[in-house]
Amino acid sequence: MGETKLKLTEIDPVWSRICEEAETAVQDEPLLGGLVHSSILHHRSLASALAYRISLKLASAEMSEQLLRELSDEAFAAEPDLVDAARADLVAVFERDAACHRLMQPILYFKGFQAVQAYRVGHWLWRQGRKDLAYFFQMRVSEMFGIDIHPAARIGRGIMIDHAHSIVVGETAVVGDNVSMLHSVTLGGTGKEDHDRHPKIGNGVLIGAGAKVLGNIQIGHCSRIAAGSVVLADVPPMKTVAGVPARIVGEAGCSQPAITMDQLLRDNFQ
Ligand SMILES: CC(C)(COP(=O)(O)OP(=O)(O)OC[C@H]1O[C@@H](n2cnc3c(N)ncnc32)[C@H](O)[C@@H]1OP(=O)(O)O)[C@@H](O)C(=O)NCCC(=O)NCCS
Repeated sequence: MGETKLKLTEIDPVWSRICEEAETAVQDEPLLGGLVHSSILHHRSLASALAYRISLKLASAEMSEQLLRELSDEAFAAEPDLVDAARADLVAVFERDAACHRLMQPILYFKGFQAVQAYRVGHWLWRQGRKDLAYFFQMRVSEMFGIDIHPAARIGRGIMIDHAHSIVVGETAVVGDNVSMLHSVTLGGTGKEDHDRHPKIGNGVLIGAGAKVLGNIQIGHCSRIAAGSVVLADVPPMKTVAGVPARIVGEAGCSQPAITMDQLLRDNFQ
């Protein structure tokens, strides 16, 4: 039976490529050998590596690395979709972040990616009704990375949060697929609404650094929000808005990052 089993690296081209990058990195910088081995080369799958990285980052005197790892392993085993989303996030960061030259970089070094993966486990806990544990994940992600995402918020796949200081995503916010945001973005409430009070961000939206998107408003697919804007009203699809309060300043061509990612998987990972 062992002979017929495929190694996970043979059926996950993204993970396979990450392992190749890691081997080269250890050769180039032996001082990083311990980190790269324990975080990547020691693992047979992306899921295992993510669970290890999340637990290492979030562990504290309040909850051990072992317990956090068991919870993350449980989440990934119960819902493989979480790992597929992580894979899409990885490729999105690699594709869109000019400073990302290898797929292993977000796993090892990018707190935006790490925080989103920890949020995904917290969101899974939330949906299981384990709300206090989910709040614990939110608190530790916020303490560790400076990124405060409520575990009830719904976030799609192919997400890039670049630089990632000071991100706030409220409880009833919804973020579509292939969204990119820079640091200091708030998806918050106005303070004037109860219950469903946070923004709904469409697919393929770019949210510039420092933008505040407030209230239960819709940001249309493939729109762009300029850095520093305060958005208080719906934005139609494929527009660029800027200013305080934000106004439409132009069209926004959609680069369809999801399609680019598909191309990447077909062209470069087989
Ligand atoms: C909005 C953005 C995407 C540019 O889009 P664009 O379609 O090329 O827009 P333009 O540069 O042609 O500007 C259109 C108008 O909006 C204004 N504008 C652009 N960005 C603005 C901003 N952040 N705040 C206020 N006005 C802005 C321009 O001055 C211009 O006004 P005008 O027509 O009166 O001259 C870009 O300005 C932006 O904010 N990107 C986010 C980048 C970011 O967050 N970087 C951080 C990296 S760490």
